[in-house]
Amino acid sequence: MSFNIDNFIMGLPKTELHLHLEGSLEPAQMFEFAKRNNVEIPYKTIDEVKQAYEFTQLQDFLNIYYTGMNVLLKEQDFFDLTAAYLNRVATDNTKHVEVFFDPQGHTNRGIAFETAVTGIHNALTQVGSELGISFKLIICFLRHLDEASAINTLKDAIKFKHLIDGVGLDSSELGHPPSKFVNVFKMARDEGFKLVAHAGEEGPVEYIYEALDLLNIDRIDHGNSCMNDPKLVARIAKEKIALTVCPLSNTKLCVVDDMKNHPLKKMLDAGIVATINSDDPAYFGGYMNDNYSAVANALNLSKADLVQLAKNGFTGSFLSPEEINKHLIAIDQYAENYAN
Ligand code: ADE
Ligand code: ZN
Repeated sequence: MSFNIDNFIMGLPKTELHLHLEGSLEPAQMFEFAKRNNVEIPYKTIDEVKQAYEFTQLQDFLNIYYTGMNVLLKEQDFFDLTAAYLNRVATDNTKHVEVFFDPQGHTNRGIAFETAVTGIHNALTQVGSELGISFKLIICFLRHLDEASAINTLKDAIKFKHLIDGVGLDSSELGHPPSKFVNVFKMARDEGFKLVAHAGEEGPVEYIYEALDLLNIDRIDHGNSCMNDPKLVARIAKEKIALTVCPLSNTKLCVVDDMKNHPLKKMLDAGIVATINSDDPAYFGGYMNDNYSAVANALNLSKADLVQLAKNGFTGSFLSPEEINKHLIAIDQYAENYAN
């Protein structure tokens, strides 16, 4: 019997290290929350919503994404959103998640930071433990806003430090380089938060250098444009700086023109700790296994590549070395016992 990629992917123990909770808001759930909260949305039917999800660049998506999150008002909404996401990725055999949310997307609409963080964290704790999924929680600063707003958000986060593991940087990349956020990242580092940043998704390779050298980040979100710079590729591989790669996001936002041209295999071959993630699955057409399958089939990835990708998810995570080791052993056992 020949090796069945999709079947092998299904049982692989996985992580998700790049997931915006607001990007897991499914159209049906958007209608449900809009109804119960009496919020107007610019769509009449689920089909109409799905038709709107045609993007040629990041900003097309972001405009729709910020409108979508307007239906989230109460702690219960944030809880339900997070619980639904966890239940969905549990079916993909996801064992550990490091999820983002955008506090300013809510505080700027008058929703308290506490409302969002409490709902999300309660679901991660309660539903995560029922499903056997561990987690880290990361807040992202919206880079199209100024650094003063990010600093105010960090001050909110410090009040809830016991619930938050890291800070990140997302939203419109072009024109908003990491250098705009040097002070707030320094403050966050001093507070003991882990640091990540979206860099090199649409932006140039210089933004990746800035994220590494000026923000001192621990992990790069996307990072695709590093592939234009062999010296940077060698550095990222040598320093074991993980990249959270998002295949379906990349094709949906036209960062990559065709999945067959996705740089993931080249990243692996260069020794980069590349990981597979879904970014905004409700908007980009797939969760963890969909992302693995799409890129694995397009690039003809081998069983060894898939094992490496799954392992990278754990080694690139913020879990402790002991926890990582336990998962790596489970992946090896799965791969050894898997009958082709
Ligand atoms: N916010 C949600 N998804 C994002 C992405 N792919 N890039 C930048 N900001 C985002
Ligand atoms: Zn993202």
